[in-house]
This record gives sequence, structure tokens and C-alpha cells, in this order.
Amino acid sequence: MTLLKATSLSHHYDYPLLNDISLELKERESIAIVGVSGSGKSTLLHILSSLLRPNEGRVELFGEDIYGLDEKKLVKLRRNDLGLIYQSHYLFKGFSAYENLEVAAILANETIESSLLQRLGIDHVITQKVTELSGGQQQRVSIARVLSKKPRLIFADEPTGNLDHSTAQEVMDLFHDYLQSHNAAMVLVTHDEALAKECSRVYRMREGSLVEV
Ligand SMILES: Nc1ncnc2c1ncn2[C@@H]1O[C@H](COP(=O)(O)OP(=O)(O)O)[C@@H](O)[C@H]1O
Ligand SMILES: [Mg+2]
Repeated sequence: MTLLKATSLSHHYDYPLLNDISLELKERESIAIVGVSGSGKSTLLHILSSLLRPNEGRVELFGEDIYGLDEKKLVKLRRNDLGLIYQSHYLFKGFSAYENLEVAAILANETIESSLLQRLGIDHVITQKVTELSGGQQQRVSIARVLSKKPRLIFADEPTGNLDHSTAQEVMDLFHDYLQSHNAAMVLVTHDEALAKECSRVYRMREGSLVEV
């Protein structure tokens, strides 16, 4: 089943950035997008994940044209089916890690699995305030928060950027297991070529186009 289908996406700011990009992603697939800083990776991720309407082209998630949906349906789609992991993680700072997870899980009608916290290595810090955690721990809390929602599509922009190599590998293993066990799919932006190669396909963003490597 196709979870994501993007057709002829183009986008410009005061200059052209993305040019005629098409992409398809099926259940249990993952794609990695690599490319130099400023090439448009984050912009493409925002367009694919319902946050930015492209100047041209169409994005279908689960068979629905998302930029044709009303805002209410879009909010529901984001809350239940999309897992967005971006560089700034927007945790609620005055609250504990657990409370941050609880909010997301309750909104999506899901429960928090202790095995997930164990695999992310945050089970022992879960009652602490977010502000007491290291950057890497906060990043893993934000990943736990997203996976607790049980999304069908994950969009991750440098999700392992703050993590040491072995923790980054652990997190990627967790993502790939998750995709298999939940029939989900992932679009990953990364600088790490080794982690990129573990995805089903790797694309390089270059002069506004995606080139499969
Ligand atoms: N909201 C915006 N308004 C104007 N220019 C933007 C905006 N967002 C990004 N850009 C520009 O678009 C280019 C691509 O940015 P981005 O998509 O973040 O690239 P990457 O993620 O590959 O580093 C950059 O030159 C950036 O300055
Ligand atoms: Mg970026």
C-alpha cells in the first residue's frame, strides 16, 4: 500500500529551490535524503509532512490530497498518523519527560510502552524534568513521544544529530523495527551516509532535484 505520493513538487522563495520532485513511499519502506546544507532538504520535508503548501504539485498521504483537506482534518491527520521529528523538538520544558509522552499518547489514544523507553535508554530518567536532561536525552524523549503516537508515517530531520555514534545506531535500529512491526514508512534527512544506506532508497538533493544514489 502506498502511504505517500508526491507529484511534480516545485517550490521557490525569492529564488527557485525545488524543481519538479516526485516521490512514492510504500508500507515498511524508508527513504533517506542527503545533500549539502541549504539544498532544500528541510523545505521538502515540511512540504511532504503537511506543514508547507508547495507552489506547485500535489502531496497525497494515505491516498488523500492533503493540501485539499480542511484544517480540522489536517490537524487530526497530524495528531494520529504523522510522526514529525525536527531539529527543534518542542518538548514542554516545565514538565517531566513522562508527562511530555503522556500528552501525545493520550491525544492519539495510545499507551506508552516501557519497552520503548528501555530501548531508547531513557527509562531511568523518565520522571525527571526535561530541563534536567542532556541534549541527547531530550532528543530521545522527543523520539519516544513521536513513536508513542504510533504514526504510520515518520518524517525525521537529522533525528540523531545530537547523539553519539552507537546511540544513533540504536535509534535507527528502533526506527527500522518500528516500520516493520507497524506497517509504517519513514522519510529521513541525514548527514550520516552509513545510516542513510540502511534505508530502502537514498536520494541526494542537488540543484532542486532528487537523484537516487
Ligand atoms: N521560510 C523561508 N523563507 C525564505 N527562505 C527560506 C525559508 N526556509 C528556508 N529558506 C532558504 O531555502 C534554502 C534551503 O533551506 P533548507 O530547506 O532549510 O535546506 P537544508 O535543510 O537542505 O539545509 C536556504 O537557502 C534557506 O535559507
Ligand atoms: Mg535542514
